[in-house]
Amino acid sequence: MTILVTGGAGFIGSNFVLDWLETVGEPLVNLDALTYAGNKQNLSTILKDERHIFVCGDIGDQKMVARLLLEHQPRAIINFAAESHVDRSIRNPESFIQTNIVGTFRLLEAAREYWSGLSLEARGTFRFLHVSTDEVYGSLEPNSPPFTETSRYEPNSPYSASKAGSDHLVRAYQHTYGLPTLTTNCSNNYGPYHFPEKLIPLMIVNALDGKPLPVYGDGLQRRDWLYVKDHCSAIRRVLEKGLVGEVYNIGGGNERANIDIVRAICTLLDQMIPRADGHSYVEYISYVQDRPGHDRRYSIDASKIERELGWRPDETFESGIRKTVEWYLANQDWVASVTSGEYRNWIEQHYS
Ligand code: NAD
Ligand code: DAU
Repeated sequence: MTILVTGGAGFIGSNFVLDWLETVGEPLVNLDALTYAGNKQNLSTILKDERHIFVCGDIGDQKMVARLLLEHQPRAIINFAAESHVDRSIRNPESFIQTNIVGTFRLLEAAREYWSGLSLEARGTFRFLHVSTDEVYGSLEPNSPPFTETSRYEPNSPYSASKAGSDHLVRAYQHTYGLPTLTTNCSNNYGPYHFPEKLIPLMIVNALDGKPLPVYGDGLQRRDWLYVKDHCSAIRRVLEKGLVGEVYNIGGGNERANIDIVRAICTLLDQMIPRADGHSYVEYISYVQDRPGHDRRYSIDASKIERELGWRPDETFESGIRKTVEWYLANQDWVASVTSGEYRNWIEQHYS
């Protein structure tokens, strides 16, 4: 028994791979193109583990994926691979269309061919789990109820539009060809190995460097935060118990304004590593130009996965953010290694 994970060197994918080997222990093939967001150092503890086979490659390379599937005969594919940063999608949308839409299409084609050739029994148990986002549902008004699985798709950024496109393809492959798919739409994750271009790790890394903490617009945009290990356990649960063709929303029930997130990080840093001058890290907060088309509010109704599959998150926001700040303080080498070259170019281009 083995599974194929794509994007397993990125933030959520690497957390999932580590969590899977620790909790399930089943061998896996990890296919990742190692873009700027993919980092083999995230997997340093398992690079010599025989249960983990790492393959550097593109999900859009259909022939290569077809060969991998025939060689390893996985019982499931979990698709994390994507371009994932909204700001980058606004500046350079092309790679988002290529990976998130075309790449998912090629991966689905390779999966369909492989699945068609399986025995009747193996066809029945095979799963293609597509990892998607709550951003496909667009932006909520302040008093609107949270997104459910039947909320209308209203993507607003090139990133969310490309993820919406991939979700539709996955749905179509189940409906048309019978490929046994599952789709998850999750809220904002945070935790270890989060690339410091995203809000939470950027704020921690900048604060430790004594740099400004760039808050877009008025900082009152709201997100629903989930500790990454809770996302991993939800995906394991959906893979194990989810019904074919179904969509499951995943969220932490931790809706917060961005400015409150940044302030919470500053408060933790004030306690854990006080500034030499005795001032608070809050003083580094700097309001900057807003993101174009910025979604004002996301909120997830996760009652379906809770009710039908019995999943619940373990971490509160308070416990999760503390663990996260502690992790970044204890892993400065990792931060140094991922914040070189390309990263610096991005920060310079985007925030200057
Ligand atoms: P990430 O950007 O940290 O990692 C993406 C990984 O995919 C990287 O390792 C990268 O090298 C790899 N990759 C990119 N293009 C590829 C290609 N063409 N072929 C193979 N590998 C490729 O992203 P993440 O934050 O870990 O997100 C993982 C998935 O979860 C994405 O599909 C994203 O849309 C979804 N998601 C993310 C969040 C979040 O808060 N980060 C929330 C909900 C859903
Ligand atoms: O909701 C799920 C999505 O969450 C995932 O699908 C995406 O892959 C993931 O990147 C994330 O998207 P966001 O755009 O919500 O995450 P980001 O960390 O980029 O921004 C979070 C909020 O913080 C958003 O309102 C923009 C704001 N922000 C972000 C950055 C990088 C700032 O105010 N300043 C910043 O410097």
